[in-house]
Amino acid sequence: MQGLRDKGHIQTGQKVLINGASGGVGTFAVQIAKAFGAEVTAVCSTRNVDLVKSIGADHVIDYTKEDFTKGDQHYDMIYDLVGNHSFSERRQILTPNGICVLAGMGGAGLHPESWRRLIANFSAAFRSNFTPQKFVTYIAKLTKEDLDVLRDLMQSGKVSPVIDRTYKLDQTQAAVRYLEEGHARGKVVITTD
Ligand SMILES: NC(=O)c1ccc[n+]([C@@H]2O[C@H](COP(=O)([O-])OP(=O)(O)OC[C@H]3O[C@@H](n4cnc5c(N)ncnc54)[C@H](OP(=O)(O)O)[C@@H]3O)[C@@H](O)[C@H]2O)c1
Repeated sequence: MQGLRDKGHIQTGQKVLINGASGGVGTFAVQIAKAFGAEVTAVCSTRNVDLVKSIGADHVIDYTKEDFTKGDQHYDMIYDLVGNHSFSERRQILTPNGICVLAGMGGAGLHPESWRRLIANFSAAFRSNFTPQKFVTYIAKLTKEDLDVLRDLMQSGKVSPVIDRTYKLDQTQAAVRYLEEGHARGKVVITTD
């Protein structure tokens, strides 16, 4: 929510592309962007197409079949949780004053490729100082006010958490190992009861 609202300045009617739409953050982002009135394009793999449609995505691009940076469509915002395309590829599909919110590097594991993408994100943010289209990074902050907004969105039925797997506390190691594989479908939950 902070990435879309505070960094991306999301507006009703905007075209928003979410890269990495099927993961723990992406499944929230699709629903929150819809709640803000955006037209949402979700990028995910074949097995998650139905999932992202079920949570409200207007359009879906299957990344195993199509490269979203090669299409004709232009977006007011790219909310990028994967960072697997270059600065110029993403600029090509942004509207003239569009914004790319650089939220992540694809999955939770810190392997060499994620470090490369992290550095590329900072480089893109710097380079966009010299272009009309902006690339911004951010780290989410936990605040009571925003948790209240999320609670209200959930109580109104506009946002529902997508739960992939649930682990008991003593299985946390297995839960983190699963998350680090980078293919979660929604959130991975640890229960303490
Ligand atoms: N900026 C912040 O404050 C902040 C906060 C939280 C998380 N993050 C970052 O955001 C990123 C995503 O986090 P998460 O918790 O959502 O991860 P996650 O739950 O592990 O989900 C990863 C998702 O990415 C999808 N994916 C993998 N390769 C893809 C590709 N090439 N194109 C499109 N989708 C692809 C996977 O789907 P498939 O299985 O179909 O490949 C999976 O559903 C991570 O890098 C994380 O560190 C940033």
